[in-house]
Amino acid sequence: MKKWRCTVCNYVHEGDTPPEKCPICGVGPEKFVLMEEVQDDLSDKKRDAIQKLLFNVSYGVYIISSIKDEKLNGMVSNTFIQITSTPLKASVCLGKGTLTSEYVRESGVFGVSILGKDNHDLIKHFGYQSGRDVDKFKTVNYVTGEKTGCPGLLDSLCFVECEVEQTIDLGTHYLFIGKVIDGDGFSEEEPMTYAYYHATR
Ligand SMILES: Cc1cc2nc3c(=O)[nH]c(=O)nc-3n(C[C@H](O)[C@H](O)[C@H](O)COP(=O)(O)O)c2cc1C
Repeated sequence: MKKWRCTVCNYVHEGDTPPEKCPICGVGPEKFVLMEEVQDDLSDKKRDAIQKLLFNVSYGVYIISSIKDEKLNGMVSNTFIQITSTPLKASVCLGKGTLTSEYVRESGVFGVSILGKDNHDLIKHFGYQSGRDVDKFKTVNYVTGEKTGCPGLLDSLCFVECEVEQTIDLGTHYLFIGKVIDGDGFSEEEPMTYAYYHATR
């Protein structure tokens, strides 16, 4: 069975052709790409069971932003993770097809806006469309990071700036490891989690 990935929201569809409409973000078949067969040692049943469990783990939800030739862009990510505390380092895994990963690779910097529980609109705005089609920062309120120039969303809880120290090519994605070099807080409300987002979207 062929697998088709939505390049906007990463939904995976199984079938001979891509779907007429993505059930998650609503884009048409032209936004789907055929996924290469990715081999691992897990049976489909085990992989599905593990993914279901991982889905419920409390990941955060973030807007990862970057800058290229003064152009700004950003995307939603649930793969941002703190990896060491002193020095404060974090990693984020971004699909190769995203415009944001292109900006991060070229600039060597990224910004992270930590989302709160009522930021569903920002998730739709930054996660369901690509900066290749729309200027996402044109219609939102943001601050410009002093160290990197990356934008941080004023409607989020907190904004940190990171400098990329290492980029690991994972085939479909790049794993960026970055050092946190600055940050600012805007609110102490509860953060959005991936599980909460899926339960309430
Ligand atoms: C809740 C949520 C989490 C996501 N997490 C990731 C992620 O960690 N990595 C990734 O490559 N895409 C992720 N995406 C998909 C991107 O945000 C999406 O493809 C975006 O449109 C890319 O935008 P860009 O092309 O402007 O960079 C996520 C989407 C949603 C809705």
